[in-house]
Amino acid sequence: MAAGGPGAAGAARVSSGRELGCVPEVAAALGAVARQGFDFLAAPLFHPRHRREFGLSPARDRPGPQTRSDLLLNGRGEWGAPPPQAMLQELDFGAYLGLPAFLLPLRGAHSPNLARVLSAHLHSGHHSAAVSTGRDWDILGGTGRGWHNFRTLCDYNKRVGVALEVGPDLPSGAALERWLGEPLRAALLPTSLFLTNKRGFPVLSRPHQRLLGRLLKLEVQVVLWGAPHHGGKPLGAYLQYLEHLGQSRPPPSAYELFARGYEDYLQSPLQPLMDNLESQTYEVFEKDPIKYSQYQQAIYKCLLDRVPEEEKDSNVQVVLVLGAGRGPLVNATLRAARQAARRVRVYAVEKNPNAVVT
Ligand SMILES: C[S@@+](CC[C@H](N)C(=O)[O-])C[C@H]1O[C@@H](n2cnc3c(N)ncnc32)[C@H](O)[C@@H]1O
Ligand SMILES: *[C@@H]1O[C@H](CO)[C@@H](O)[C@H](O)[C@H]1NC(C)=O
Repeated sequence: MAAGGPGAAGAARVSSGRELGCVPEVAAALGAVARQGFDFLAAPLFHPRHRREFGLSPARDRPGPQTRSDLLLNGRGEWGAPPPQAMLQELDFGAYLGLPAFLLPLRGAHSPNLARVLSAHLHSGHHSAAVSTGRDWDILGGTGRGWHNFRTLCDYNKRVGVALEVGPDLPSGAALERWLGEPLRAALLPTSLFLTNKRGFPVLSRPHQRLLGRLLKLEVQVVLWGAPHHGGKPLGAYLQYLEHLGQSRPPPSAYELFARGYEDYLQSPLQPLMDNLESQTYEVFEKDPIKYSQYQQAIYKCLLDRVPEEEKDSNVQVVLVLGAGRGPLVNATLRAARQAARRVRVYAVEKNPNAVVT
């Protein structure tokens, strides 16, 4: 899987991959998948034959390699890996190949060994993992609970995320909201989820469209699996549809653009008393869409409350803006005074000499 960290691809493009359960010839499969228009391939890392033999005689005692040679492919981003029996061995090999991401199934509510092996591995490398939690969307019980346990066991490692398996049944609004608050990395979509429209093209139902819209907004990567079976259309038609869903998203607001890449990241608290903030930091404050209009509203109401109509020309209210920064609350105060048709004298107090200039 191609890694897509926060704020990676700036534009509306959908990052989509193809999952293949069986890949006899990796290079050929990768070429085919790329020609169909996919960005990445997700495939079992080890040949299934070797996997089944692992730990059994005679494979256990055989000195040779466990899988095909890494020389079949070169470079980063060309390999992807689902479930391991010999987890550690596969993770090691994947790290050696420089795979950006592993996809692992999380089955059962408690997987301490998997968590332990995975965390140790992620600490030592640059790859990440997305665990798929099955179609059980119940985040409080079922496999959702399992994800919660797993993530806790992984010590909230930022490299561990969720690959949502999207099936025909979607969760309730509340369960969905909770999942959207989790670190979602990928959505696994079977081709069987699609419907056929009048023109014979694969499309998704309205509820699934809405879900995809919300997932794409979080820059979740889409992994398509299963054979094409809609009006004889090739896989490219599914991709085009996903691309179309991506394009028809409403453009991000100025606020979203500004915050891009910082979603869901805890920031270390500012120390505006000890430090002098940078202009850019003030700029971030000033992007707040609510704060300044609420301040204005509060000052407006206060002025009307304190100064009766008949005193509006003689009564001058004093407003102190303590810690004025670049002055947005000064502006809010002046707007409130105009709005209320009352007179004010404003004092701005600021200890940061650089901000005082503004
Ligand atoms: C969180 S910022 C808010 C700035 C501005 N009011 C705004 O909304 O963008 C707090 C401001 O208080 C200033 N400040 C902190 N301690 C101060 C002090 N003792 N005297 C004057 N200003 C102070 C800081 O320099 C900083 O500009
Ligand atoms: C305050 O208002 C002035 C005048 O309209 C404007 O030039 C300035 O950018 C505003 N400052 C802030 C911080 O909003």
